[in-house]
Amino acid sequence: MTEHSILFVCLGNICRSPLAEGVMQAEAKRLGLPVKIDSAGTGDWHIGRAPDPRARAAAKRHGMDIEYLKARQVTPEDFMQFDTIYALDQQNLKDLQAIRPEGARAELKLLADEIPGRVGTDIVDPYYSEDDSAFDVTVADVKAAIAAIVNKLHA
Ligand code: 4NP
Repeated sequence: MTEHSILFVCLGNICRSPLAEGVMQAEAKRLGLPVKIDSAGTGDWHIGRAPDPRARAAAKRHGMDIEYLKARQVTPEDFMQFDTIYALDQQNLKDLQAIRPEGARAELKLLADEIPGRVGTDIVDPYYSEDDSAFDVTVADVKAAIAAIVNKLHA
């Protein structure tokens, strides 16, 4: 199996895409999949920061460690480096389409399109939620999407 590279992109790169990165890393390790995984944000506010404490806590609740991750902003070069770029919501997808260079290598997709019954929908941003369980919803959503991605990579 040749190595497949995947970039997950949300707005801040401190909540949803680091959780997607963490889930995908865990699945790749569990199944021995040859994948390169990263995450980034369309925005620049949190560059260099670790994931939001609520995302780190949710990761821990689900047996993952994402404390070591550092936020970065997506760049046009990412479209040359990765095979697939997954946008976590429809606004992220629009923002990525706007910076997609001519001759991009990466296939650009909406992450929820991988979840049966969720085509065209968002992985909802938990950042402004007052309830930490919003982060468990994020984990459940990214797990559902990644289960489908992993099935395809395995096939
Ligand atoms: P994320 O969540 O895109 O899932 O990382 C957000 C993080 C920060 C902000 C918005 C969403 N913010 O406005 O700072």
